[in-house]
Amino acid sequence: MIGAGRYRTHAAAGAAEAVGEAVRVSGWVHRRRDHGGVIFIDLRDRSGIVQLVFHPEQAPEAHAAAERLHLEDVICVDGQVVRRSEETINPRIPTGEVEVAVSAMERLAETEPVPFSVEDESTEPSEELRLTYRYIDMRRPRRLAALELRARVVRAMRRVLDDDGFLEVETPVLTRSTPEGARDFLVPSRLSQGEWYALPQSPQLFKQLLMVGGLERYYQIARCFRDEDLRADRQPEFTQLDVEASFVEPQDIEDLTERVLVACFAEAGIEIPTPFPRMGYAEAMRRFGSDRPDLRFGMEIQDWTDAAGRTDFAVFKGVVDGGGVVRGLVVPGAGEGVSRKDGDELMAEAQALGAKGLVWAIVQDDGTLRSPVAKFLDGLAADFGAAPGDLITLVADDEQVASEVLGTLRNRFAERWGLIPEGMWAPLWVEDFPLVGWNADEKRWDALHHPFTAPHPDDIDLIATDPGSVRSLAYDVVLNGLEIGGGSIRIHDQAVQKAVFACIGLGADEAEDRFGFLLKALRLGAPPHGGIALGLDRLVMLLAGERSIRDVIAFPKTATGADPLTGAPAGVDDTQLRELAVRSTAPSPEEREK
Ligand code: AMO
Ligand code: AMP
Repeated sequence: MIGAGRYRTHAAAGAAEAVGEAVRVSGWVHRRRDHGGVIFIDLRDRSGIVQLVFHPEQAPEAHAAAERLHLEDVICVDGQVVRRSEETINPRIPTGEVEVAVSAMERLAETEPVPFSVEDESTEPSEELRLTYRYIDMRRPRRLAALELRARVVRAMRRVLDDDGFLEVETPVLTRSTPEGARDFLVPSRLSQGEWYALPQSPQLFKQLLMVGGLERYYQIARCFRDEDLRADRQPEFTQLDVEASFVEPQDIEDLTERVLVACFAEAGIEIPTPFPRMGYAEAMRRFGSDRPDLRFGMEIQDWTDAAGRTDFAVFKGVVDGGGVVRGLVVPGAGEGVSRKDGDELMAEAQALGAKGLVWAIVQDDGTLRSPVAKFLDGLAADFGAAPGDLITLVADDEQVASEVLGTLRNRFAERWGLIPEGMWAPLWVEDFPLVGWNADEKRWDALHHPFTAPHPDDIDLIATDPGSVRSLAYDVVLNGLEIGGGSIRIHDQAVQKAVFACIGLGADEAEDRFGFLLKALRLGAPPHGGIALGLDRLVMLLAGERSIRDVIAFPKTATGADPLTGAPAGVDDTQLRELAVRSTAPSPEEREK
């Protein structure tokens, strides 16, 4: 064992197997109890906890020193492992049947009072405090467990890919912009003043170049950088398992990904069946209002357009006559106690999501509906298969708005009314994405994934004539309603690549300027290729049962992109800026005060 001798013969957890032996252990003072005379200390190291006993008669010097110990002091002790008496066995810890009778102790570091308790995990300090003192926070078993799981998951990924002949290759961090749809982080060049590197949003272009380079099978645990608004499942720097292979079809990448994920799940003690179910994008949107449906619960979106068009309700008639839809959700058992005010709040919630309104109705015991517009809703409960006590919500709008609003409400309602089963895993492949989506603000087509995604071979001719109906060879892997990975077969023909650039409004000159090196490579012997990237942070978050990816990253950033521990981002010296020929136009701190 590393450090054996001077500091330790055993890890704390190893003491359980060393009854009767003389041991030396080192670690932190986790907990202490003074039982008038005898002092008990729980010693913690990464392996776990072992109880130390200091007897005043048997080891007076060590006992006296133990009286002066603080929580989180770092100590090294010599002693003998002894079996505890029956009534003092602690079944809650793996070493609960033994203790170390200490003969000598050395304090290796004296600790100031810590900002929050390591030992008491029942109180959760504010996230700001936890991140400022991340190194204290990660002493807590739950945090440590997340980091350990993360390391095991990465090892499992490497194992599967190495066994399959994949080569781990690093790609540059100082590079040019890679379009994944977010803003770039930029780094000014000192040697070429006025020019900038961009940090990669993903290794996308490099992994394609590796395929042109004949590597055939590549992977990387890759750090990606995206300057976008942060959420619980997004960080400005995050990690992907990035994979690319040559001479493959979607099925090959999907099978490989499933094998990787099965191995990752096994590290968390979870078995998932393969192959994962598959669903087309259009079906996912229609049934679940999302391209990453959470299949742990039902509550599918239902259509009531035809019936709504036949009612006398002006709102519905107007929408239906205008080519829109009326769709809704049944929330089982959620009708109980829903007041008119609650209904108004549901309506406001739908409006905040972009709907024009929302109709709510509750199925009463006699099967009739309680709703402000009940008289227009004849037959609704039967059509939707709703039972007494259920809540029904309806949205009338154009198809996309209705789908997206109901998709968001579906997830929220399931959470709010506790309809998501615990311990369930619902993986899914979403396929048959459109290649491009209409960007109404900019009045142009945008790539739905990135612009290197191959169009379906049968749809190539439509790129010029009807872009919206072109399917792509992209696939996303979804787990419990979260997109944990995405990839595609790539374009390996430069004429097709040019056509796609043109379709998304990237002119020939601009395409040449930004991606000329890729177009060139595609003319110099590019094999058919494709791949995927898994979001490591999101995957580990789900496996660890955490709610934020911050909890599975050793040193994450807050919602404002700051690191409270180091104080990043921070100002820099004027000299540094001069060397880079960069001048800040940001207001000074004093100006900002005003
Ligand atoms: P994509 O942009 O879908 O694909 O990213 C792949 C996966 O990375 C995770 N992810 C994130 N995780 C945390 N914070 C973020 N800000 C963040 N953004 C994305 C998600 C996502 O599914 N180059 C392509 C992959 C390919 O085509 O092979 C790419 O980056 O889990
Ligand atoms: P109004 O006629 O605007 O007072 O709306 C009457 C009821 O219809 C209210 O409960 C509204 O929330 C609801 N409503 C209005 N517009 C829509 C819509 N587009 N979809 C669903 N319900 C709507």
